[in-house]
Amino acid sequence: MLVAPSILSADFGHLARDVEAICKGGCDLVHVDVMDGHFVPNLTIGPVVVEAVAKAATKPLDIHLMVENNSFFVDLFAPLNPAFISFHIEEEKHPHRLVQHIRSLGIRPALVLNPHTPLESIEYLLEDIDMVLLMSVNPGFGGQKFISSVIERATRLKALIEKRNPNCLIEVDGGVSDNSVQQLADAGVDVVVAGSFVYKHPKGVAAAISALK
Ligand code: DX5
Ligand code: ZN
Repeated sequence: MLVAPSILSADFGHLARDVEAICKGGCDLVHVDVMDGHFVPNLTIGPVVVEAVAKAATKPLDIHLMVENNSFFVDLFAPLNPAFISFHIEEEKHPHRLVQHIRSLGIRPALVLNPHTPLESIEYLLEDIDMVLLMSVNPGFGGQKFISSVIERATRLKALIEKRNPNCLIEVDGGVSDNSVQQLADAGVDVVVAGSFVYKHPKGVAAAISALK
């Protein structure tokens, strides 16, 4: 299982320290939640702060956009060379075009689905993307309760991926802990995002990351 800690649960007064800790602690990706106060009722970080995160990180960035104007934000963050940029299918009129644009920038495109969004809405985009992010909470905040129907959704998505693009990864984000990770692995999930489980673990971030792995 690849582990992508969400820095949303880090101490923003010591952000570089907390990014270094997860990288040294064995994470695979650094998950960066960008919220614009419109698509979701919360506001997080822009390019100045993400640039500081990129400098502190020794692992690739996984940028999760929760914004209304996706292409604007893609172009804003592309110079930071993230491994992945993911955007919500619910918010994009021309997802196929934006996927191609992200790819042309040398970044791996990923699509995000809210807990209720039909898997079929991305079936014909699967061959063009490198990852699907299934939300297991409503986007906007860390520390929410895991919505367990994501396990059935991951199983169904895995079957679609086998048919359309076996190289495409499945990532799950929201409320993930050591209670849910085994079921997610069994369902075919490749990457878990975890914010509060990693940063609030009593034994520290490295122990939390290895528990998920
Ligand atoms: C929610 C974010 C998540 C969140 C995960 O909108 O996309 O990445 O920070 O945090 P936890 O693991 O605490 O749910
Ligand atoms: Zn996220």
